[in-house]
This record gives sequence, C-alpha cells and structure tokens, in this order.
Amino acid sequence: MILLLHGPNLNFLAYRPAKYKGQITYQELISHLTEYGKKFAIELICKQSNSEGKLIDILQEFYLAQDGKGIIINAGAYTHTSIALHDALEIFTIPIIEVHLSDPSQREKFRHLSYLTAISQKVIKGKGIKGYEEAIEELA
Ligand code: DQA
Repeated sequence: MILLLHGPNLNFLAYRPAKYKGQITYQELISHLTEYGKKFAIELICKQSNSEGKLIDILQEFYLAQDGKGIIINAGAYTHTSIALHDALEIFTIPIIEVHLSDPSQREKFRHLSYLTAISQKVIKGKGIKGYEEAIEELA
C-alpha cells in the first residue's frame, strides 16, 4: 500500500495557472494514477488536505497501520514552510518520494527551499503528471 498525499490547493489543480500544472483536475489526476498503479500491482491510498495538522494526522495513521510500502508526497506550499511535516515524515523507514508538478527551483526564490528533501529518497520535479508515474514505478 502506497500513500499518495497532496497538500494545500492541489485539490484546486483545475483552477491554477496552466503553466504550472498542465490541463488536469485533481480528480482526473487521482483516477489516472490509481489506474497507473494497478499496472504495477500497487494499491494507492490517495489523500489531500489543505490543513497542515490534518496532513500530519494522515501520516501518523498511515504509520500506525504498519503496512505501508512507500509514500509519494506533493505537500504544495507546505514543502517550503513545514518543519512539522518534515518531523512527521522522518520517522518512516519506508521510501518517501517528493513530487512536484512544476519545478520549484525555477520559480520564485521562496520556493527554492524544501523541508522535505532531506527525508526523501528521491525528488521528482517539473515533469507534470509523468513525475508521479515515475514515482509509482520507482516504488513498484
Ligand atoms: C507544487 C510547487 C509548490 O511550490 C506550490 O506551492 C504548489 C505546487 C508543485 O506541484 O509544483 O502548491 O508543489
């Protein structure tokens, strides 16, 4: 079981500037990746929250369930601000892959720091939906 976790505003993908995310809604993204996972016999649990605390609750529940094989996380803007998310993730021994649709290092300076990179096995950015496919394959 792999947790696909999305942070703030990613449920609003369809309303974000197209240059950063491509033409897709959050639901379409989730449906596509759920099907994509099946090709690799991977069951994805897909969760999204706009709230930092809720994201941490989801991670802690996933941790306690003890049957996780990996985490794919796009924490949105919390990537650049949340030491709390870093701390929630650092207890895991399963692989964590940080994914971004856009490449934050090519955007505003305030996006250049990621608190999640230090605890991620891999960072995939700027590849749009393909980045998530790559992450699923990596964990398969
Ligand atoms: C993002 C990049 C972040 O900087 C931004 O705040 C997002 C989306 C991405 O997928 O490109 O919400 O994580």
